[in-house]
Amino acid sequence: MKKITDVKDLKRGASINFEHEGKSYILVKTNNGRIVAYNSVCPHEGGEIVWDGALNKLLCECHLSIFNVDDGSVYKFSSVFDKMDNLTGLKLKIDDNQDIFLI
Ligand code: FES
Repeated sequence: MKKITDVKDLKRGASINFEHEGKSYILVKTNNGRIVAYNSVCPHEGGEIVWDGALNKLLCECHLSIFNVDDGSVYKFSSVFDKMDNLTGLKLKIDDNQDIFLI
């Protein structure tokens, strides 16, 4: 398993980006305190996925599609198209030391 970070190093409403096996991911501690991770490459045309704590959503900076942070599903399409895949989520494990691992 790959350790990503410690829970204590990730504040509510914050995110970190990390790489694993040549791919880019984003880890988010939501405003509700839930910890989730997704592939940070947009399934449309590869734009970067970023966290917007004010909206409590994930955004693609390329064409401004919006994704639900709880499950990576599309919340709102960009105005330039109307079909795309959801974000790919990752399975995480938090151990007794509050370390967050990618499994
Ligand atoms: S690349 Fe993300 S919406 Fe187009």
